[in-house]
Amino acid sequence: MDWEALKLEVRQLLDEKDAVLMVHNYQRPEIQDVADELGDSLALCQKAQQVDRDRIVFCGVDFMAEAAKILNPSKVVHHPDLDSVCPMAHMVDTEGLKMLQEQKPDAVTVSYINTSSEVKALTDICCTSANAVDVVRATGASEIIFTPDTNLGMWIKRKLPEVEMHFWPGYCPTHMLITVPILKQMRAEHPEAEILAHPECTPDVIDFSDGCFSTEGMIKYAARSPAKEFIVASERDMAYRLHLAHPEKTFHPVSIAVCPNMKKITLQKVRDSLKHDKGIVELDEDLMDAARRPLEKMVAIGRSSFDSGPQEIAAQVA
Ligand code: 13P
Ligand code: SF4
Repeated sequence: MDWEALKLEVRQLLDEKDAVLMVHNYQRPEIQDVADELGDSLALCQKAQQVDRDRIVFCGVDFMAEAAKILNPSKVVHHPDLDSVCPMAHMVDTEGLKMLQEQKPDAVTVSYINTSSEVKALTDICCTSANAVDVVRATGASEIIFTPDTNLGMWIKRKLPEVEMHFWPGYCPTHMLITVPILKQMRAEHPEAEILAHPECTPDVIDFSDGCFSTEGMIKYAARSPAKEFIVASERDMAYRLHLAHPEKTFHPVSIAVCPNMKKITLQKVRDSLKHDKGIVELDEDLMDAARRPLEKMVAIGRSSFDSGPQEIAAQVA
């Protein structure tokens, strides 16, 4: 594959079609290389709201491309492979959520952005891993239904023990592959490295790590840390993203932690989507209106200070 020729072709098509290329931090390296905007789910929502070009080409999983469309509905949003879905987002369904809401009528519903637009429409406020604690705190509620990631929910609960939380039994299959024995082995190989964990990891993995951050929070933290080497307890290609941001430091990926859905997007599919107007996100207007409200509230809260904050897990929980 002549990557340089393909990258040039993609950049030319983006100009011709007046399109911006928005790329999540877990995308393939060759896609990260040509991005206009590269970020975590919160940063990409903030950027999507501000896009003034005609089109957005979104390289990430389904709920991310849908959020971009909902936040800036007059734009044509391309998702170069519509089958690139987040399995965790599809672990929560509207019928089950409605039932739980009936059982817990006083609870405020907070949904991770990793949910379908239909579930967002039943949600009071969304959050990402970059602002989950601040979002729950901002509701002022003493009782919360949190969907769908139990691990992120437990991370919030540790910081806000006074809030009664009802978790949905969802999880990220990719982050569940990361275990303490794997990290112990990696730490033995790289004794100087700090371990950075994503809050989708299990609590024992988070406790074994030196800090817990969203993907963008990891980038900010790595800039401030005196460490020169890091073990990245998140999706494999997050290590490439960190390398792009900090080429002078070394980042070790957990090689088995691959999100196969993120990898369904290829640079060839980005080109084909632009060339043939394929993979356009289509959503019902009423559904978008209902899902926009919790997303806009989330974006208004912004990034939490702890997301690029203290190093020690204990300090992060205190
Ligand atoms: P971030 O919001 O940290 O980018 O995470 C999104 C995601 O899907 C992690 O698995
Ligand atoms: Fe979903 Fe996990 Fe993939 Fe993130 S890494 S998109 S949570 S399956």
